[in-house]
Amino acid sequence: NLAGFISFLITVSECKTSQSDRHNVRKFPEGFMFGTSTAAYQVEGGWDADGKTENIWDHMTHADPCLIADCSNGDVAGDSYHQYKRDVEMMRELGIDFYRFSISWSRILPTSFPDKINEAGAQHYSDFIDEMLKYNIEPMVTLYHWDLPQRLQDLGGWANPHIADWFADYARVVYRLYGDRVKYWITINEPKAVCYQGYGSDTKAPRVNVKGVGEYLCAKNLMLAHAKAYHIYDQEFRPKYNGSIFISLSAQYFEPETDKEIEAADISNEFEWSAWAHPIFSETGDFPKVFKERIAAKSAEQGFFRSRLPEFTPEEVEFVKGTSDFFGLNHYSTYLVYKNDSEVGRYEIPSFNDDRGNIHYQPDHWEHGASDFLKVVPWGFYKLLTKIRKDYNNPVVIITENGYSNHGGLDDDDRIAYQRKYQSAMLDAIDEGSNIAGYSVWSLMDNFEWMQGYTERFGLYEVDYESPERTRTPRKSAFVYKHTVRTRALDW
Ligand code: NOJ
Repeated sequence: NLAGFISFLITVSECKTSQSDRHNVRKFPEGFMFGTSTAAYQVEGGWDADGKTENIWDHMTHADPCLIADCSNGDVAGDSYHQYKRDVEMMRELGIDFYRFSISWSRILPTSFPDKINEAGAQHYSDFIDEMLKYNIEPMVTLYHWDLPQRLQDLGGWANPHIADWFADYARVVYRLYGDRVKYWITINEPKAVCYQGYGSDTKAPRVNVKGVGEYLCAKNLMLAHAKAYHIYDQEFRPKYNGSIFISLSAQYFEPETDKEIEAADISNEFEWSAWAHPIFSETGDFPKVFKERIAAKSAEQGFFRSRLPEFTPEEVEFVKGTSDFFGLNHYSTYLVYKNDSEVGRYEIPSFNDDRGNIHYQPDHWEHGASDFLKVVPWGFYKLLTKIRKDYNNPVVIITENGYSNHGGLDDDDRIAYQRKYQSAMLDAIDEGSNIAGYSVWSLMDNFEWMQGYTERFGLYEVDYESPERTRTPRKSAFVYKHTVRTRALDW
């Protein structure tokens, strides 16, 4: 793509002349790893290929196609199930160190359980991993990126405590298949979205929507499932293979609207991401104190005989504590917060989670991408990284997702600007001592953006959904990222 490359060179030279006095070359630390990320349902397609069975996204989109903004689904998506060699070619073009992708549970275990391994599905990931390794690209595998086998959902899914065993069995099968070659494992992607959106609202599959109860049952079960998968790797596979295993948490940042709203912002950060970080990364373990207290108090007020948030036993607290070698972080944007308080005259019926008692919003004048939530707020990323450093004793962080959506096109200066600002904010945190080992762009290529279908584009590569082979073309941002990865610096 010559035109893209030429326009990239122009961008570089323009930035150099106009910004050279404002920006010095900023080097990433020695050994810093660069990658890109995707997830199975969002790119693979092949929804029933070679013995794969139905997952909750197949089920939901087939039952009611127009739940998705453009009435689409992931049946074919980017067809990565068949185009995986082209995907590896793109990784090589970018020069990235690692590629984060997820494995589809129902492709490996068609009954959901380990009684039967689907050989063709298992072979696919084996070939894909080998293709990456051939070119020194480190595979980083997410075991669960939202595509639960429908059969398990029929049994209650993440609201059924037996999910910890089901997930552990699946994890063990996958470690056995690929543990010799995969050194980076992620158990679960974004527990917050899995639970709040899938079980406490109707905004993601399986749309259980038992608000105030479903998300908390899911939370406890999911943390135990994660911990089980961690311990199995740690005890049975790490001694042989010496890899790492961690969790990816989604954390948007919540900033107090004024100095009077500090407590409100603390609560929002706690509900949004500390709820998931605290059990694993804090010294005490367990759900955070205010989170527990608020839900317990509200439950009592409402006449419940026990908190809607199920407690961990002391043994479970110990079992979950410390079960992540890195702090996997997905971050996109920031919100302002104030307390939802009728006494001060600003009151709305809470729309997201009643237990927080806060309103969060993003001012209209903030620059934004195509996705609703995606306002460009790099200082929020810096503050979040600082807070993680302080709250959790400076864990080693891998940014497992950061990226920008627009509506498509190869000339994506908006994405280039976003990435530059966010990478720069990350370097500010690193300068102040944050331990950040790697950074991954969401996404390598355009993909199925859940309820938004294909209307929002996150890719460094554009995917042509009209062409049978789903042709991929690098955007200008791909050339810029390639340059960053090659020079290991922000110098444009
Ligand atoms: C978080 C999710 O992990 C991913 O699946 C999604 O596409 C991106 N954020 C963008 O919304």
